[in-house]
Amino acid sequence: MTAAADQPTSPVLAEAARRRTFAVISHPDAGKSTLTEALALHAEVIDSAGAVHGKSGRRGVTSDWMEMERKRGISITSAVLEFTYGDAVINLLDTPGHGDFSEDTYRVLAAVDAAVMLLDAAKGLEPQTLKLFDVCRSRGVPVLTFVNKWDRPGREALELLDEVEQRIGLRPMPVTWPVGFAGDLRGLVEVATGDFTRFRRTAGGATRAEAEHVPAERAAAEEGAAWSTAQDELALLTEIGAGFDEKDFLAGTATPVLFGAALSNIGVARLLDALVALAPGPGERDDVDGRPRPLDAPFSGFVFKVQAGMDPSHRDRMAFMRVCSGRFERGMVLTHAATGKPFATKYAQAVFGQQRTTLDEAYPGDIVGLVNAGALRPGDTLHDGPRVEFPPIPSFAPEHFAVVRSADSGKHKQFRRGIDQLDGEGVVQVLRSDLRGDQAPVLAAVGPLQFEVATHRLESEFHAPVTLEPLGYSVARVTDAEGAATLQGQSEVEVFTRRSDGALLAVFAHPWRLESVRRRYPDLRLDAMPAGT
Ligand code: G4P
Repeated sequence: MTAAADQPTSPVLAEAARRRTFAVISHPDAGKSTLTEALALHAEVIDSAGAVHGKSGRRGVTSDWMEMERKRGISITSAVLEFTYGDAVINLLDTPGHGDFSEDTYRVLAAVDAAVMLLDAAKGLEPQTLKLFDVCRSRGVPVLTFVNKWDRPGREALELLDEVEQRIGLRPMPVTWPVGFAGDLRGLVEVATGDFTRFRRTAGGATRAEAEHVPAERAAAEEGAAWSTAQDELALLTEIGAGFDEKDFLAGTATPVLFGAALSNIGVARLLDALVALAPGPGERDDVDGRPRPLDAPFSGFVFKVQAGMDPSHRDRMAFMRVCSGRFERGMVLTHAATGKPFATKYAQAVFGQQRTTLDEAYPGDIVGLVNAGALRPGDTLHDGPRVEFPPIPSFAPEHFAVVRSADSGKHKQFRRGIDQLDGEGVVQVLRSDLRGDQAPVLAAVGPLQFEVATHRLESEFHAPVTLEPLGYSVARVTDAEGAATLQGQSEVEVFTRRSDGALLAVFAHPWRLESVRRRYPDLRLDAMPAGT
């Protein structure tokens, strides 16, 4: 039997083509956990809704590896959910959605090929969604949009699309269109074909919504004004040319939009189908020299997250690695590109929340959990065969700053070792300045929760209790020596050197302070991150 001309021939290419690796970006409460649960339910990974929900009182998909996580009922860790859907293999990477999010949230987006931007129909674009979207844009990650909670009162569909276009410059391309306003959803029209699916919701959302295909004439008669409004809106969309354009989607200038209600499993199957049909599979990733690494080259992957203490009884450290090329086989001895040392993968695992199963093989797009990964740092490359290294994951603009001091004068050595370790792992960014000296480094974080993780680990792992003194800065920009000299001694501004890469960070008390400096010194280098680093 001969393969069709456009079918990949090598087994690695064929496996890669089946993969869809993505994350959901959203603001807390938009329904990410509910959607994750519904996606998994639809793919029949779990047999009852509720098992994947991360909120307190239910079993969490993410590991509850720290007491404080349990106490707060939030997930600090990013879990990976892998399931098959038809012929596709779906890897859904969790981005913790709590307000206290961290650099890990951003790093996850370095490991995906697409993202689903989840909007609450009543709220539209919210701050955290915008931040995460910026990261997707800077990394060239194509974004699909799912407008959630259409089963309850919200804004108008056209108004939401307009907001997406006006505020973030993404041209919306509706794939489905709601019949009935938010709070009175009758069903969804397939924009490309005009097919109508009517839903009957079931209580609690624990089972799939009953879907019924209804011909247009019958829908027009039975749904009345809701149907004609939807038809008018669709006609308008056709007029303004909102049809699907793959090139624009992949280029990050347009977004397919789907509507639904995750809680009632409405539109969820359609989203999964859209992901498989529209989202790109793993592509060739550029190495540090800008050369694309073919998918069927010898094995390579990079670490996008390192998590310590997932299992307190074993004090292990797990590194999450995204496969970029080749076939991964458990037991392979890889090379750690940063050190040239061998890395044995005897204990490779697939991670599904608290469950870990031994993983035997993986292909481009898959995520492998490597235990006992003390030597690995986020951004590190592991490879087989000739040396290859992928570019580092950029550090993200910190918004929280605190001076950290050893609380026990006899524990300076442990304190320094702990800070070095956390810096290397990227748990927090560590900053220094001549002014403050090395006894009192400054920790910088994207979310304050990172400080709690750092404090907890310094105490429990390094036996170095610390005190934190928050600093009143909230904005960071990358500057240069000239900028540092100019800004020295100015009020509500301070310049630090980031220990990990020597970058000079100018930090400001408020965005308006940054603006006033910019106005006064228009030529000063003040680059935004992550794009600037
Ligand atoms: P998150 O992970 O993004 O933070 O959101 P989560 O899924 O926890 O959902 C936040 C709230 O929104 C939950 O209600 C959830 O039930 C609700 N929700 C999610 N999707 C939909 C939807 O499609 N329609 C409606 N009507 N509600 C939805 P809660 O009352 O805060 O919590 P819970 O007690 O129901 O868990």
